[in-house]
Amino acid sequence: MTKISQPSSSLAEQVARRRTFAIISHPDAGKTTLTEKLLLYSGSVHLAGAVRSRKDQRHATSDWMAIEQERGISITSTVLQFNYGGCLFNLLDTPGHEDFSEDTYRTLVAVDSAVMVLDAAKGIEPQTRKLFDACRLRQIPILTFINKLDHPAQHPLELLDEIETTLNIDAAPMNWPIGDGPTFQGVYQLSDARVLQFERTEHGQHRAPVTVRDLEDPTLDELLGEEACAQLREDVELISGAGVSFDQDAFLAGRLTPVFFGSALNNFGVEPFLDALIKLAPPPRPREAGEKRVDPCNNDFSGFVFKIQANMNPKHRDSIAFIRVCSGRFTKDMTVNHPRLQRKVRLARSFRLFAQDRETVDEALAGDVVGLSNPGLFAIGDTLYDSEPVTFDPMPQFEPEHFALLRNLDTAKYKQFHKGLDQLVKEGAIQRFDALDASQLYPVIGAVGRLQFEVLQTRLQTEYNVDVAIDPLPYTVARRVVCAPDAFARIKWPMEHMSIKDQSEHPIALFASEWPAARCAENNPEVEFRPIGIASSITP
Ligand code: G4P
Repeated sequence: MTKISQPSSSLAEQVARRRTFAIISHPDAGKTTLTEKLLLYSGSVHLAGAVRSRKDQRHATSDWMAIEQERGISITSTVLQFNYGGCLFNLLDTPGHEDFSEDTYRTLVAVDSAVMVLDAAKGIEPQTRKLFDACRLRQIPILTFINKLDHPAQHPLELLDEIETTLNIDAAPMNWPIGDGPTFQGVYQLSDARVLQFERTEHGQHRAPVTVRDLEDPTLDELLGEEACAQLREDVELISGAGVSFDQDAFLAGRLTPVFFGSALNNFGVEPFLDALIKLAPPPRPREAGEKRVDPCNNDFSGFVFKIQANMNPKHRDSIAFIRVCSGRFTKDMTVNHPRLQRKVRLARSFRLFAQDRETVDEALAGDVVGLSNPGLFAIGDTLYDSEPVTFDPMPQFEPEHFALLRNLDTAKYKQFHKGLDQLVKEGAIQRFDALDASQLYPVIGAVGRLQFEVLQTRLQTEYNVDVAIDPLPYTVARRVVCAPDAFARIKWPMEHMSIKDQSEHPIALFASEWPAARCAENNPEVEFRPIGIASSITP
């Protein structure tokens, strides 16, 4: 591996202060609440209110798309930036609804760590698992926050066991809940053997007052009550003998998750969790770029586009490309190399965005995210650099699991239809396929989540004034067909299948499920049927 150049110390200091992370959770586990509370404790209360209003459909002044408002979900992702304890946090929002898109996965490519929020009564839920799998692909270190301890919860040991067995990762308790449901009153911190007892505040609007004692303090019985205190001492003995201990290397390699218990709603355990993010979550790390590893403290600027979003704000009907800065310093108006286009581009219009608010960004460092006005120059996965040539590894493409025919209902609007479809394919909102021959008139669209079809339909209607129909197809598995041209005609197909081609003209076969796809491969040994992306569920 080649190192590209020497780090500069002041840049290194500033990069070391950064924590770029995302929160992953199943809907309703408490992601929005935890986000609000992290902002409350960091003193960015003005942002906390906006987070809730984005979530709340009826008051959603800040939602970008009508479909988000109708369903009260957040389809597009934003970045929140806040300071706490000498660190600068970039919190990348991932959609938390039940159905989701490749956008969610791509956001996870741009972070250095993730926080997994679980509901203490429900444990691991399907969406948590899918998002966890996407993190595991890149060995992203994951911290776990088990939320809602103020409600009747599963036993902490059962929860730790569930994380270990379902996700195949070690779970190291960092604190231990004192009571649960109405008797939940605080946490015991394993690292310094201290007891934190919190007080509830009205609607959890303010920081929860906290009393700190040592486990051996004789006044602890009085503070917690005799029963709770005896139970805590028993629990502490149990976990110190049997629990997994925290190991920084295993955490950074994605093999172990430190687990924190708390209640975001009541602000119980939020502050220690934020402190743990400073201590445990890694600052920007070197990124793979073919043979190179790009050091974030390298003075040369480099970054990659992980998300494109058009028409985010009806007032500014433009497209924004989001870049993650990977090394050096971004400055507004800088001229960078754009290797895909083999030319230089000036980065004149740079923004930080939160919902409909835009703020011009003059400078950003490794770990930060910048929105760039995109007059068609940038595509997902593009690398930008200012000096030493680098090309970051391509974005992973995920297996679409839903397919449909896309019919333009107003053939007079042929041009708008294709313009809109092209843009949305460029954004990576959906994948597009076409017929192998002229027999099939309509494009086939594929997506990771079914909701993407509705988003496509709504956006074509509202942004391009085109009405379309989406006719679902009964296929869930796509394979790239690799064989000699004459062998294709000899393929013995199963009864139900569809042959199409992707954007690079490669033949693709769609099957109803894995089983006929596997049978077809068995029946045609001279042909290779390759997955077209990374399966979204890869937990071993
Ligand atoms: P999400 O973003 O992961 O979808 O979840 P969100 O934070 O919106 O939380 C989902 C529900 O769970 C909300 O209740 C929220 O108040 C509640 N919640 C979050 N954290 C805790 C907690 O620590 N304890 C308890 N008891 N509840 C919690 P809601 O009734 O759906 O909404 P709201 O009327 O409270 O806003």
